[in-house]
Amino acid sequence: MRHFLLLFLTAVAVVVGIAGLRGHLSRKPPILIIPDLNHQFKLRPEQPNDFFANGQSSQLPPPGTVPRSRPMPTVSGPVYPYEDSPANTGFMAGTTNFIATNPLPVTPALLRHGREQFEIYCTPCHGALGDGNGIMKKIGVMPAVANLHDQRIVEMTDGEIFNTVTRGKGLMAAYGPTVSIQDRWAIIAYVRALQLSWLGSTNDLPPALQAALK
Ligand code: HEC
Repeated sequence: MRHFLLLFLTAVAVVVGIAGLRGHLSRKPPILIIPDLNHQFKLRPEQPNDFFANGQSSQLPPPGTVPRSRPMPTVSGPVYPYEDSPANTGFMAGTTNFIATNPLPVTPALLRHGREQFEIYCTPCHGALGDGNGIMKKIGVMPAVANLHDQRIVEMTDGEIFNTVTRGKGLMAAYGPTVSIQDRWAIIAYVRALQLSWLGSTNDLPPALQAALK
């Protein structure tokens, strides 16, 4: 009997010790022999107080603070990365129709940046000229890479190319996870410049140069 009582009490102590009173949330600080820094005077958001002169616990960020997300400057105003906006998706709002043109203002700086990004992410397969003769074809690991000067691709909307770059196609990987939205649009602006460079004719030259050629 005494042994049973001893075992029983030990079992109760073990069960209560492991399973008892777990997971109770409390706002009250635990009893601490040596107080630690988790528990100290602090203000919760919107808590009225007389610590700050204006009585608000939420203050404006100090000047020079770097925000976690910056708006992307587009032709129709700033767009944040979390917004459901054509500039982020490549689709017209609420549809699955691609937008026709690049939402970023196309500037020499954007084209320069696009060229840099294209040379990093696209030339291995599509080649520096975009004709599909990159190193991957030369060493024979990717036999058929799209030629970006194909009429079909020239006629695609910017939104559709954005979608291909974002999600990938066939053997081409998706670049949505690695290349930022802004960089993808910069790449597309540069792809358009590459295409234009192939489509140009002597008629596009200024008259003086045309005459010099003849
Ligand atoms: C790993 C090699 C590889 C890389 C890197 C690559 N592509 Fe491709 N790309 C391909 C292949 C292969 C196809 C043909 C896919 C198919 O039609 O199945 C293709 C197709 C395309 C097409 C045509 C899509 C269509 O609908 O037919 C576009 C536009 C394109 N790539 C743009 C890009 C751009 C811009 C980049 C750089 C961000 C890039 N690609 C990087 C391999 C690559």
